[in-house]
Amino acid sequence: TKRKLWGGRFTGKTDPLMHAFNQSLKYDQRMHPADIKGSIAYAKSLALVGILSKEEETRIIEGLQAVGKEWESGTFKIQEDDEDIHTANERRLSELIGPLGGKLHTGRSRNDQVATDMRLWLLDEAKEIEKDLKALIRVLVERAENEKDYILPGYTHLQRGQPIRWSHLLLSYAFSLRNDLDRLRQLIPRISVLPLGSGALAGNPFVVDREFLAKELGFLSVAENSLWGVADRDFIAEFLMWSSLVMTHMSKIAEDLIIYSTAEFGFITLSDAYSTGSSMMPQKKNPDSLELLRGKSGRLFGNMAGFLMTLKGLPSTYNKDLQEDKEPLFDTVDNLSACLKIAEGVIATLSVHGDKMKAALTMDVLATDLADYLVRKGIPFRDTHHVSGRAVALAEARQCQINQLSFEDFKSLHKDFSEDVFKVFDFEASVERREAIGGTSRKMVDRQISVLRAELEK
Ligand code: ARG
Repeated sequence: TKRKLWGGRFTGKTDPLMHAFNQSLKYDQRMHPADIKGSIAYAKSLALVGILSKEEETRIIEGLQAVGKEWESGTFKIQEDDEDIHTANERRLSELIGPLGGKLHTGRSRNDQVATDMRLWLLDEAKEIEKDLKALIRVLVERAENEKDYILPGYTHLQRGQPIRWSHLLLSYAFSLRNDLDRLRQLIPRISVLPLGSGALAGNPFVVDREFLAKELGFLSVAENSLWGVADRDFIAEFLMWSSLVMTHMSKIAEDLIIYSTAEFGFITLSDAYSTGSSMMPQKKNPDSLELLRGKSGRLFGNMAGFLMTLKGLPSTYNKDLQEDKEPLFDTVDNLSACLKIAEGVIATLSVHGDKMKAALTMDVLATDLADYLVRKGIPFRDTHHVSGRAVALAEARQCQINQLSFEDFKSLHKDFSEDVFKVFDFEASVERREAIGGTSRKMVDRQISVLRAELEK
């Protein structure tokens, strides 16, 4: 006869809408490998304390493996009363091995079970995401290595500021992502904590060896408090916050590249592989890949904010609200890993137009260098800034560039200008002067590349 696993104390039937409302199997079935893995380890721990005989342990483990195979081959048949992945697997186990299946849940609750599954699942995904993140950093470093010769205006307030190497810009993205990599690695020990063996809330009365369980499942530590163990979802909140921060970086990279790919800038062209066309305007090539990277950041922030709202106001231990941890987490993981892969592809395949970058380098981006020229002759910077500003104003009035002013013009602005002032108007020389650590000179770009390469080795 069909019955709900928890049906004993019930006489009335569940409302059909409530039944559907309560069911999480649609989305939590993707955790089937973690659920089977956790149950196999738990069966072993029950055998160690004598709740299962050696022979029962073997039959349960073989049964669980068979259930796992059904999920993998797509032959698992979901039944009406399967509420979630945990009840589905237990129901199927008992169909395969008979009443013995009913011994598996001894001392266990879906509360410690689901918390364990979520952590196992996320640990696996985090490993993949770490790889994707490293691949993105690597492609930035590779381009930076190959494209050191391109110089473009660096912008503040989106106004031309000072010349920089294109590689320097790419590496600035890589350094944000390098910190994201660090932060991800720092999350792992807080995800890798075993809840199993906490029971529903008070702990496990059959005294299963939780350190054994942790070892079996690859957890770094054991939840030291059962109330906390079943309820803690901070690791999910943290992961969602982390993902949101990664997405702010994606969004910035996307925004820069969208601007640089416009005809007005023309610094880069996206490859066809990552662009789309317009249904009406035949000439269009749109940077949809980048716009989605920018746009999805909003969605991922939403997952984080929404889940924090879910946690806020909950009483201690397990409450069904916690089932709402799954969809935001799964959605964030799916979209983040797609974003990282797309960003890698976009950056690997875009083409760079050095001529357009060069054309955007107007002489006014050397106004700081002009001020620095006088500083080197001993004049206080506050004064030289003013003199250089007046040179800019004079050029603007004459509708020429500052290097087209005459030597007499410079002399009239400050007595300490000599003929060598015209040497200032050289973009290559300007970037090469920035050779303190962190600067845009070739040497310092090389230094950044070696710092990042060493990080990627880790
Ligand atoms: N599907 C549930 C969840 O995801 C599993 C835990 C159910 N526990 C309970 N006491 N109803 O949270």
